[in-house]
Amino acid sequence: MNIKSIILAAGKGSRMRSDLPKVMHTIGGKAMLHHVVSTCKSLGAGSVIGVVGHHAEVVMNSLPNEEITWVRQEDQLGTGHAVMQTIPEIDDNDVVLIAYGDVPLVRTETLKPLCDCIGEYDFALLTSKLDNPFGLGRIVRGSNNEILEIVEEKDADDEIRKIQEINTGIVAAKGAHLKRWLSMLDNDNAQKEYYLTDCVAHAVAEGAKVTSVDCQDPNEVQGVNNRQQQAMLERAFQLNQVNSLMSEGVTVLDPSRLDIRGSVSVGTDVLIDINVVLIGDVKIGDNVTIEPNCILENAVIGSGVTVKANSVIEDAIIGDDCDIGPFARIRPGTVLSSRSKVGNFVEIKKSVVGEGSKISHLSYIGDTEMGSNVNIGAGTITCNYDGVNKFKTIIGNDVFVGSDSQLVAPVKISDGSTIGAGSTITKDAPEQQLTLSRSKQISIPSWIRPQKNK
Ligand code: UD1
Ligand code: MG
Repeated sequence: MNIKSIILAAGKGSRMRSDLPKVMHTIGGKAMLHHVVSTCKSLGAGSVIGVVGHHAEVVMNSLPNEEITWVRQEDQLGTGHAVMQTIPEIDDNDVVLIAYGDVPLVRTETLKPLCDCIGEYDFALLTSKLDNPFGLGRIVRGSNNEILEIVEEKDADDEIRKIQEINTGIVAAKGAHLKRWLSMLDNDNAQKEYYLTDCVAHAVAEGAKVTSVDCQDPNEVQGVNNRQQQAMLERAFQLNQVNSLMSEGVTVLDPSRLDIRGSVSVGTDVLIDINVVLIGDVKIGDNVTIEPNCILENAVIGSGVTVKANSVIEDAIIGDDCDIGPFARIRPGTVLSSRSKVGNFVEIKKSVVGEGSKISHLSYIGDTEMGSNVNIGAGTITCNYDGVNKFKTIIGNDVFVGSDSQLVAPVKISDGSTIGAGSTITKDAPEQQLTLSRSKQISIPSWIRPQKNK
């Protein structure tokens, strides 16, 4: 079956009160349109047509690597008019699926059965029953429960407004039929628009077979028109993701206080405390604890790791049994080998830290290669930047750097060397020696502290 998915994304979305086109607003860190594109692509065989209008360039440029046929709808004259623009792209034998760029959470498992209806039926509507159907198109049925037409809220009388079964907007049809029904549309209605929904009455008049598929989860078919609906779907989306993490065996101390904006894989016995945000591609090993208020973005976390409260890890690889934080910042390009320790108020950038090495307090380590079993004293800074260029610091194995030292790169501290506290190291330090740069300590016995006059 060749499925052609048409995604409507031409509307302005005035109620978002934004300069960004509505479909570019995100759910779970991903543009709503991109959710729908992924879902349509996952239907398998077939292709995707995007209908764009308002800020078309922004929308099209947001998906540079996706194979999508873009069709422009210069004036937004209604959903039917939007689909009419795609007619040259539709083949008679296509199964056409029409989805909406602002209905982001619809699932493949829901769209597939709708498409599967085509063949036995000519037209299939995804419908839902809502306690409050206000504003939506109503499904009008005959005495044998057969579908007769869809009537929009603004065109409905009091009887029709009582109907709770609504049109989600998502439909599937055989290409040849759809093209014919579209050609019959007019804009003789309350909104002076070409309604896609009027195709239903034309299909029924022809004696075509029209059916519906009921969607049980209202969030799946909820459109986003304003910030409130966006926030509501964000929470629903997050809860779903956290639920599947819990099904995989993760302890989540508060499901409403974990946000996932990307994809996460987890080992066994992972514990995630409150207010954690996982962004991009995050891989977490076994027996990992993530304490409150941590942000992990594109990170690989080995097994047995504890990420203590208020730590931020971005584009980094953390080996097994590492101990990080609290208040640590691990920046892009960092690799921590196993059993290493990064303590409070330590920032590490684009550096490799060897096995069992410790940077426990108040340090900046940047552009550094550090061996194993190194101890970096409190307040140590690698001075990697002269205002224009970045330079590397090389630290061997078993090095001990005394507190409050500055290592002015480019510089090499060889295996087994010790740096005396408070040193400013500008030249390479040889193996196994004490290197220090420090003015001699003196005491002045005759000195008298200034006295206050009483
Ligand atoms: C539409 C349906 C209604 C259904 C509801 C579900 C019609 C006439 N009505 O109403 O039965 O209950 O969706 O949410 O179809 N769009 C374009 N070009 C246009 C007009 C719209 O691309 O000229 C896009 C919008 O950007 C949006 C989608 O189509 O993504 C739906 O348009 P909207 O104006 O929100 O339709 P509704 O009035 O909500
Ligand atoms: Mg709408």
